[in-house]
Amino acid sequence: MSTTEVAVDSSNATLQELARRHLWMHFTRMGGYDEQHEIPIIVRGEGAYVYDEHGKRYLDGLSALFCVNIGHGRADIAQAGADQAKQLGFFTNWSYAHPRAIELAARVAGLAPGDLNRVFFTSGGSEAVETALKLSRQYHRLRGKPGKIKIIAREIAYHGTSLGALTATQIPALKEPFEPLTPGGVTVPNTNMYRTPEGTTGVDLANTVADAIEREGPDTVAAVIMEPVQNAGGCFPPPGAYFQRVREICDEYDVIMISDEVICAWGRLGEYFGCQRFGYQPDIITTAKGLTSAYAPMGAVIISDRLFEPYQSGATSFVHGFTFGGHPVSAAVAMANLDAFENEHILDRVRDNEAAFAEMMDSLRDLPIVGDVRGVGFFRAVELVKDKQTKETFDDAESETLLRGFLSGELFRRGLVCRADDRGDPVIQLAPPLICGPEQFAEMESVLRPVLAEAGERMHVRA
Ligand SMILES: Cc1ncc(COP(=O)(O)O)c(C=O)c1O
Repeated sequence: MSTTEVAVDSSNATLQELARRHLWMHFTRMGGYDEQHEIPIIVRGEGAYVYDEHGKRYLDGLSALFCVNIGHGRADIAQAGADQAKQLGFFTNWSYAHPRAIELAARVAGLAPGDLNRVFFTSGGSEAVETALKLSRQYHRLRGKPGKIKIIAREIAYHGTSLGALTATQIPALKEPFEPLTPGGVTVPNTNMYRTPEGTTGVDLANTVADAIEREGPDTVAAVIMEPVQNAGGCFPPPGAYFQRVREICDEYDVIMISDEVICAWGRLGEYFGCQRFGYQPDIITTAKGLTSAYAPMGAVIISDRLFEPYQSGATSFVHGFTFGGHPVSAAVAMANLDAFENEHILDRVRDNEAAFAEMMDSLRDLPIVGDVRGVGFFRAVELVKDKQTKETFDDAESETLLRGFLSGELFRRGLVCRADDRGDPVIQLAPPLICGPEQFAEMESVLRPVLAEAGERMHVRA
């Protein structure tokens, strides 16, 4: 097909054809799309809703990918990017600064808790995590502890797709195609309280971090990376004093505590940062997504004064960076996004509405297939089971039939964007834009309830 033909014929069929022929979608079985199976093409968004190429409306129950926090279609945010592009479309943060990156760094540092005062910008979450892991290793090396290289993460947790993140997370399906990885990944149990033996406390689970450090050797462990609420596996909140104990352990063993807030920052849990919700002080926060409400790609690593100290003077530098880190257009968009957060009291809206969201999700517990309902703020999940009494889960083949064979497609067909996932046990996750309220929660329920009920029947779930 020639370029001219493409320009003239931009019909929907052509977009489908072009997508099938040329676009490589991420984490996608490309073989699943043929003439009979349309690629979903989303063409515009407005508030909590998006519209496909046929004009059909969907409630975006996942903020696209946990990131369009203030909702779609904001002309003011777009304008901020356009104005900046006119003034200075791009300049780099490699040895240079520009006003928007400086202003945003200061603003983010002002919002971050404690002495998290230094901001290193990236283009997204994986780059932020990679930056934090490399910084952790170099920090120890600069202080005469070059052996401290290992990274502790929690089972099933996802921290991005870089080889460094895959080393940390050790998820077989994600790492095996790309091995060998760099050495140094160690995993500890996550906080899935639905499947943790009764009586286990947050402190017990945190102590598995100390056990791992002892087992691996304290002189070999650089950092612990954890999300405030773990996404993969389905929104695991931290029980009791979990994070307070992890903090103590990190101090005791000279291990850096990284709070990976690529999802949990920027209002998702009703605070600017997830660690503020749970009252712990990390050494590093990694973030991205909601920083710009995804109107432009951007990530950030927020670093404590203590960790920056070896770089403060002399010739030492962090030999690491990305061309687009701190991009002025993204920084301007982030500033406008944070203005909207302040002017429209977005955090208050989450706090005011999270109980209604939780109540709607909890109301699904009467369905035979719903084993557990959990989460915090605007970040919630239901876990699907074969038998509620025994908590028996679905095997791989059943999970495939349930999620990819039915739920994902059916929920979308009925107008709800959400996530059906089985990186752990099968779950449905919802993380709507932070502007949602009771009307959208009722709409979610009106789709979830009949679809989950039908799923239970199809899978012969025991009531
Ligand atoms: C906790 C966490 N860390 C890192 C990442 C990677 O971010 P990105 O996809 O922007 O590279 C994600 C992405 O969802 C995430 O949820």
